[in-house]
Amino acid sequence: AWFRHYEFVVRETPFTRLCETKNILTVNGLYPGPTIHVHKGETIVVDVYNMGNYNITLHWHGVKQPRFPWSDGPEYITQCPIQPGSNFSQKVIFSIEEGTLWWHAHSDWSRATVHGAIIVYPVQGTTYPFPLPNEEVVIQLGEWWKKDVMQVITEALTTGADPNTSDAFTINGEPGDLYPCSQPGTFQLNVVPGATYLLRIINAALNDIFFLSLANHSLTVVGSDGSYTKHFTTNYITISPGQTIDALLLANQPPGRYYMAARAYSSGNNVSFDNSTTTAVVQYCDPSCPLFQPPFFPDLPYYNDTFAYLNFSTSLRSLASESHPIDVPLNVTTQLISTVSVNTIPCPDNSCAGPNGTRVAASMNNISFVNPSIDILQAYYNNISGVFGDQFPHFPPYIFNFTADYPPLILEVPKRGTEVIVVDYESTVEFVLQGTNLVAGIEHPMHLHGYSFYVVGYGLGNYDKDKDPLTYNLVDPPLQNTVVVPRNGWTTVRFRADNPGVWFMHCHLERHLSWGMETVFIVKNGNDSNATLLPPPQDMPPC
Ligand code: C2O
Ligand code: CU
Repeated sequence: AWFRHYEFVVRETPFTRLCETKNILTVNGLYPGPTIHVHKGETIVVDVYNMGNYNITLHWHGVKQPRFPWSDGPEYITQCPIQPGSNFSQKVIFSIEEGTLWWHAHSDWSRATVHGAIIVYPVQGTTYPFPLPNEEVVIQLGEWWKKDVMQVITEALTTGADPNTSDAFTINGEPGDLYPCSQPGTFQLNVVPGATYLLRIINAALNDIFFLSLANHSLTVVGSDGSYTKHFTTNYITISPGQTIDALLLANQPPGRYYMAARAYSSGNNVSFDNSTTTAVVQYCDPSCPLFQPPFFPDLPYYNDTFAYLNFSTSLRSLASESHPIDVPLNVTTQLISTVSVNTIPCPDNSCAGPNGTRVAASMNNISFVNPSIDILQAYYNNISGVFGDQFPHFPPYIFNFTADYPPLILEVPKRGTEVIVVDYESTVEFVLQGTNLVAGIEHPMHLHGYSFYVVGYGLGNYDKDKDPLTYNLVDPPLQNTVVVPRNGWTTVRFRADNPGVWFMHCHLERHLSWGMETVFIVKNGNDSNATLLPPPQDMPPC
């Protein structure tokens, strides 16, 4: 079959931000990178050429890639990296998702600048479950480092310290006019009074969850993570790395200039917090833009307002209508409970730069994931032993008071390993993710490749297996590919294991991923040929 091709050339490109010029890794010289436009059900091929100086892989975040994890992208999970001077043609298969997704690098910290939007329109000839907007606008949130990001993470991993925070947050690649030297590039959206805009909002930042709002305007949320939601109107949104929110903006205010502003959300008391704010401007230019008027500033929730955070994220609901039915598993065949923890590992003579001379790490069920040297998918497909183990514990190794101020010290030191979760085809999986307060409690945006899951429950404190399931929403839970585990709290997700293959699951805070907060699902083949993993393409990058 013939598929539409995109050409993605990865290379170093000079960009100037915050009064300084540096080379960053880009796709086709763009930052943020090019937008992919497809219709639901289409397949495209992205021809990736690595003309940069780093090994790279690309991932299509939220795209299920049915039975074809070979071009899913995570380094050492489904492929070995594309080396400088090499190329790889990645088939991207759009099946059930519809709305806004995104693509990003999935090797080291290169996704800081190597990312872009994916817009999945409804099947040709059909339309949105809301009135057609006059215009669609991608809003990508990000972060800018003055230093080379690869150097930032390499140094952190060498010393054992928490990596440096970014120097600015960005909207569509621009810090906005509250930062030095940033006025000319500030993203501006010119609106026409009475018109409606579909904002496709993506959080592509490495390490920060955001609050975002627009002065004097409310937003009507209509979708998230590539599926539609019940509509609700709000004065602000919250969005974690990995998540997308689709929201309608009605230009119904007096002509003027209005700030759209985003600020990091962080409830953790030990977490260094950058309180700077990135801005864009929404302006009414009919008949002409009132250029000299200073924009109005929105009310953003306070940076540690957990109530505001939870209030937004728990308002997301599936449409669960006749035309958009849900398929939440009611009977669970595979139950998993995992802690998601930040840990520390002792260093000889307390010589590392983490807390008390330790090295910072992170874990799930007390295993800090170690990347193998050839990818797990290849090892699984070709029966190569010694690459990974299948002993990821289905329950925490110790039952303790996960969210106490002084948890058992022994759990601060995780084991290191490459353990995966193996489940049968068509199992119905329930996964409870339990945050802990081992080193510091913080939110964890957990993301699963190859699937979206229904978020059926959440709560603060320790998960209670007798009481909490009674509160699950099995009627219209949101279908997401990334869910935030509340600080010192828990979240339950459910999905049907109908996509055979090797699928990564990890915290989408990049520093936690670098520290080992991840595991892998291997979903076995079913019995008939429509339920089996497809063979690899010819041009898989060699290890
Ligand atoms: Cu946004 Cu592993 O992905
Ligand atoms: Cu995390």
